[in-house]
Amino acid sequence: MVSAKQLALAAAMLSVCGLSYAESNITSDTYFYGQSEPVYPSPNATGSGEWAKAYEKAAAMVSKMTLEEKNNLTYGISSTANGCSGNIPAIPRLGFTGLCLQDAGQGVRNTDAVNSYPSGIHVGASWNRTLAYERGWHMGGEFRKKGVQVALGPVVGPLGRTTTGGRNWEGPSNDPYLGGALAASTVQGTQEQGVITSVKHFIANEQELYRNPTTNSDNQTVESISSNIDDKTMHELYMWPFQDALKAGAGNIMCSYNRVNNSYACQNSKALNGLLKTELGFQGFVVTDWDAQHSGVAAALAGLDMAMPDGQSFWGNNFTEAFTNGSVPVSRLDDMATRIIATWYQMGQDDSSYPAPGVGMPYNISEPHTIVNALTADAKPVLYEGAVEGHVLVKNVNNALPLQSPKLVSVFGWDAKAPDTMMPNGEFFIYNPWTLGLEPAIYQTGDVFLNSGLDVPDYYQVAFNGTLSVGGGSGASTGPYLSAPLDALQQRAYEDNSLLMWDTSVLPSSRGLMEASDACLVFLNAFATESMDRPGLREDYSDGLVKQVASTCANTIVVIHNAGTRLVDQFADHENVTAIVFAHLPGQESGRAIVNLLYGDENFSGKLPYTVAKNESDYATLFHSGAVTPYGLFPQADFDEGILTDYRYFDKHGITPRYEFGFGLSYTTFSFSDLKVSAPKKNIAAYPSGAIEQGGAVDLWETVATVTAKVRNTGRKSGAEVAQIYIGIPGGPIKQLRGFEKVLIPAGKSVKVTFPLARRDLSTWDVVAQKWLLQSGTYNIYVGSSSKDLPLTATMQVTSS
Ligand SMILES: *[C@@H]1O[C@H](CO)[C@@H](O)[C@H](O)[C@H]1NC(C)=O
Ligand SMILES: *[C@@H]1O[C@H](CO)[C@@H](O)[C@H](O)[C@H]1NC(C)=O
Ligand SMILES: *[C@@H]1O[C@H](CO)[C@@H](O)[C@H](O)[C@H]1NC(C)=O
Ligand SMILES: *[C@@H]1O[C@H](CO)[C@@H](O)[C@H](O)[C@H]1NC(C)=O
Ligand SMILES: *[C@@H]1O[C@H](CO)[C@@H](O)[C@H](O)[C@H]1NC(C)=O
Ligand SMILES: *[C@@H]1O[C@H](CO)[C@@H](O)[C@H](O)[C@H]1NC(C)=O
Ligand SMILES: *[C@@H]1O[C@H](CO)[C@@H](O)[C@H](O)[C@H]1NC(C)=O
Ligand SMILES: *[C@@H]1O[C@H](CO)[C@@H](O)[C@H](O)[C@H]1NC(C)=O
Ligand SMILES: *[C@@H]1O[C@H](CO)[C@@H](O)[C@H](O)[C@H]1NC(C)=O
Ligand SMILES: *[C@@H]1O[C@H](CO)[C@@H](O)[C@H](O)[C@H]1NC(C)=O
Ligand SMILES: *[C@@H]1O[C@H](CO)[C@@H](O)[C@H](O)[C@H]1NC(C)=O
Ligand SMILES: *[C@@H]1O[C@H](CO)[C@@H](O)[C@H](O)[C@H]1NC(C)=O
Repeated sequence: MVSAKQLALAAAMLSVCGLSYAESNITSDTYFYGQSEPVYPSPNATGSGEWAKAYEKAAAMVSKMTLEEKNNLTYGISSTANGCSGNIPAIPRLGFTGLCLQDAGQGVRNTDAVNSYPSGIHVGASWNRTLAYERGWHMGGEFRKKGVQVALGPVVGPLGRTTTGGRNWEGPSNDPYLGGALAASTVQGTQEQGVITSVKHFIANEQELYRNPTTNSDNQTVESISSNIDDKTMHELYMWPFQDALKAGAGNIMCSYNRVNNSYACQNSKALNGLLKTELGFQGFVVTDWDAQHSGVAAALAGLDMAMPDGQSFWGNNFTEAFTNGSVPVSRLDDMATRIIATWYQMGQDDSSYPAPGVGMPYNISEPHTIVNALTADAKPVLYEGAVEGHVLVKNVNNALPLQSPKLVSVFGWDAKAPDTMMPNGEFFIYNPWTLGLEPAIYQTGDVFLNSGLDVPDYYQVAFNGTLSVGGGSGASTGPYLSAPLDALQQRAYEDNSLLMWDTSVLPSSRGLMEASDACLVFLNAFATESMDRPGLREDYSDGLVKQVASTCANTIVVIHNAGTRLVDQFADHENVTAIVFAHLPGQESGRAIVNLLYGDENFSGKLPYTVAKNESDYATLFHSGAVTPYGLFPQADFDEGILTDYRYFDKHGITPRYEFGFGLSYTTFSFSDLKVSAPKKNIAAYPSGAIEQGGAVDLWETVATVTAKVRNTGRKSGAEVAQIYIGIPGGPIKQLRGFEKVLIPAGKSVKVTFPLARRDLSTWDVVAQKWLLQSGTYNIYVGSSSKDLPLTATMQVTSS
């Protein structure tokens, strides 16, 4: 693709009226017109596939609506009746009860008597579809009880392109296959409760810097970042997990803040009319991210269906005029309304048992209100199991773990303890150092190991004042309690009559304590939040704490609550650092889970859903993109790396990571054998030809080949292994994840794992045919326990015609 930078270069050489673009900064967006292909008109939802009944009912209801009633469905109203993030008013005369839209992907936000679930990244690290499904189901039940019709999650974009991205933790993985599989299970689980999922953010929302327009020092508007992506990368990487979620039946898609090819995502006709509603056959409705609308008529024509939190700037009541004066066809409004009402019917929200919008969402949680209790005993196993499975053990030497009846355990790092406050609306007050503006002296003393060069000081990388169990922003949630690691350790010391000592102050000085301990546990965190990218992937204060403890304690065990990728090279090889755990964001069961893992009552079974490099410079795209002359007012991010993000990039350039994608240790060992490949039948059609239903051509999902293997537990303890299959598609990256299966295997036993490969799994996006192409050729197959430990290999011949 021709990148914006290359265009600028060409323009600079081509003098216009004696003045090149490089000298005269671009001040009008007309310069960019046409970079995103126009796709009109906006396709009607047709009720294809499983949507037929809902669509029929919706069409009947919408036909009875007045123009104003239909228009009123398309934008949110502010309400003091409840605390929902967004509200669509009811139409009582027709029996439509209205919608409450509420954050987010790890539990119901901003209310009480709900659970705080493991975050997206934690689910990603579990590699467990059943867990993702059950978490979705229980979370969905809570949204329902609270009177929420649309749960604003799950996240599958950002997809970790920007390694330091502030929201990477909200989604499961940097890999589209893993992220898509787990998001699909989440959508299924949540929607089985009758709650509409809002899969977000469509699309290419890969950084927080310049996510919204800003005003510069000259009082000029600086537009949002433009993600400039070629068609192949769009399909094979960024659209992939959305496609999975749509196939699973997702009823709502949230369009994103950024621009795509210099056209705002919520008015990008290629993205909404073209990719989403035509190619992927989307039957539900598109809602803006909050305040992501930038036009009225243009957005309506480009396929936007609902504006949030209110439509006042562009739609609102007066927008009925756009349909009467002919600038937007009334059929477009009919389609918007039909999509919204059809989704409501599709989930069964017309049933009288569905709680009224916002019934459990008090407007002001701090004022007296009736508590609607959404907690159930049923959810407890999933909260706990989910917390356990997202922990990834990456180093374990000298039999450090599991702990063997230690007599004295010492604990360091404030991340071990419970925060001072926890209020239902108060996530920001608990953790968010950026909001608090905390600048304790110790962090100002220049330990800037790595800095983005932007206005975010290095110390903003950590959450002060307590253990990190969820990231910041709209994805945050608070549970009914928080099991902090130190609290769970207290309980353990009580139960096994051992000694526990701790110094969780900023500068622990208990050298003697470190020397005398059987094990020294150091708890660190790496914070991230919506609205700001992280300044780096490590920081010297926390790494210094590890080194200080390890200089004296021969058995130093490091646990990191990381809201995204965290580098560990400053201590990973230290002789006294005997174990390292990426503890991610476990939610409210954090302490119980980690302590049971450390003591061996539970077994580590998580795997990294991203690559941990040795150095920052190893990543393809570490930092966000900025605004550069001549594009100062139009920040550009050229996705030149194409699909070579994460391990694809490391493979291509032969870079050895510290801990590879898919890696994670357990308390036992596994071996792989008996690889069997059943190749596709000869002369299989090169292109799919099936009907388009939600998710795309139906035959893209047909199994065309199957691979099986045997996994044996060769150790003395039972444990779970995640068997992974990677495929080298002709002409593509060396390998890409195309299947995984997590299996629990008793010591000494074997199980067979099966990887069904769908047509899409083996195909590449053909930019000319505008279809997924199954090429003829030799496909490399790799099976094993991580992206670098792949003992079983084979090739498969495909002959397509
Ligand atoms: C272009 O923008 C840069 C950065 O804002 C500014 O320093 C420069 O003076 C501008 N040049 C022109 C010709 O306006
Ligand atoms: C963006 O531009 C590239 C290069 O022209 C093109 O391949 C792609 O289809 C465009 N995508 C969108 C959403 O406009
Ligand atoms: C949508 O349906 C209406 C009513 O049948 C029709 O007039 C309109 O042309 C359709 N729009 C498209 C893009 O097919
Ligand atoms: C549409 O919404 C506006 C603003 O909320 C309200 O005043 C008006 O009565 C509604 N119209 C109808 C027909 O419901
Ligand atoms: C996957 O998660 C489910 C639900 O929590 C759990 O019952 C099951 O044991 C897990 N599977 C493996 C292999 O760990
Ligand atoms: C900045 O621009 C806005 C509108 O473009 C204007 O209303 C405002 O007065 C300007 N502010 C300053 C400080 O010039
Ligand atoms: C809507 O239109 C009325 C009448 O033209 C006007 O007074 C009002 O300001 C408009 N409201 C908005 C939000 O634009
Ligand atoms: C029609 O109405 C819309 C909404 O008020 C307005 O934006 C647009 O400019 C109008 N077009 C014409 C041709 O009057
Ligand atoms: C919520 O209620 C508390 C306690 O009455 C009050 O201090 C606070 O200002 C209220 N917040 C809002 C947004 O009304
Ligand atoms: C949070 O921790 C910082 C650094 O130790 C300290 O300065 C601050 O007072 C603490 N804030 C609260 C609310 O405890
Ligand atoms: C490891 O710990 C021992 C104390 O047990 C200490 O003597 C040694 O210096 C430590 N090693 C390093 C590299 O700090
Ligand atoms: C974990 O390992 C222990 C020790 O082998 C075993 O007793 C326990 O059943 C295992 N738990 C799971 C979930 O595999």
